[in-house]
Amino acid sequence: MAKLIYSAITSLDGYVADPDGNFDWAVPDDEVHAFVNDLERPTGTYLYGRRMYEVMVGWETDPALAGQSSLMRDFAELWQAAEKIVYSTTLEQVSTTRTRIERAFDPEAVRQLKAAARADIAVGGPELAAHAFQAGLVDECRLFVTPIVVGGGKQSLPDEVRLELELVDERRFAGGVVHLRYRTSI
Ligand SMILES: NC(=O)c1ccc[n+]([C@@H]2O[C@H](COP(=O)([O-])OP(=O)(O)OC[C@H]3O[C@@H](n4cnc5c(N)ncnc54)[C@H](OP(=O)(O)O)[C@@H]3O)[C@@H](O)[C@H]2O)c1
Repeated sequence: MAKLIYSAITSLDGYVADPDGNFDWAVPDDEVHAFVNDLERPTGTYLYGRRMYEVMVGWETDPALAGQSSLMRDFAELWQAAEKIVYSTTLEQVSTTRTRIERAFDPEAVRQLKAAARADIAVGGPELAAHAFQAGLVDECRLFVTPIVVGGGKQSLPDEVRLELELVDERRFAGGVVHLRYRTSI
């Protein structure tokens, strides 16, 4: 069975975006980017909330983004190769290939997707992921803790969810980011 993985680049105080909605402080440096690329390479399907999808589309629709470096081109190519499901009640059409819209998050459908998938599945951003956490569907959390405190904003992890976690990997980067990989316990 495929794993459902939640990944986020988060501030030390647990936010993916600051009170003004900015997350420029979360942009990975080359060392982190190379690590992210290798971590994401096996992902077969991305489950996106509409807002995260709107941030990510540029990896297919904006050639200038991929053109910035070989690392960014590599990420663009692996992202374009994966399937995407966008959850939204408002989005009328998608602007990327291998992409479909779902109007509601159905835990049973995601359970079946996990059972049938041959490659791991990722879920993001936090609002959509909260539904997956609440349904007990998340198998792994991968957090890139960035050395900044932003004092509020969009939480990386949902309220009212309690999870026992097992730390299965960690890595420290020269720029001060720490990657923590946790498996959810039964
Ligand atoms: N730290 C970083 O590296 C980083 C990177 C990228 C983005 N970000 C930040 O993260 C934010 C995205 O996360 P987010 O939590 O705000 O949003 P999100 O989870 O990506 O998207 C929320 C939207 O998804 C749809 N949705 C959620 N649950 C649904 C359900 N059960 N059924 C149907 N549709 C559902 C809704 O779209 P509709 O309103 O269309 O119905 C909802 O408004 C970005 O806006 C950005 O600020 C941070």
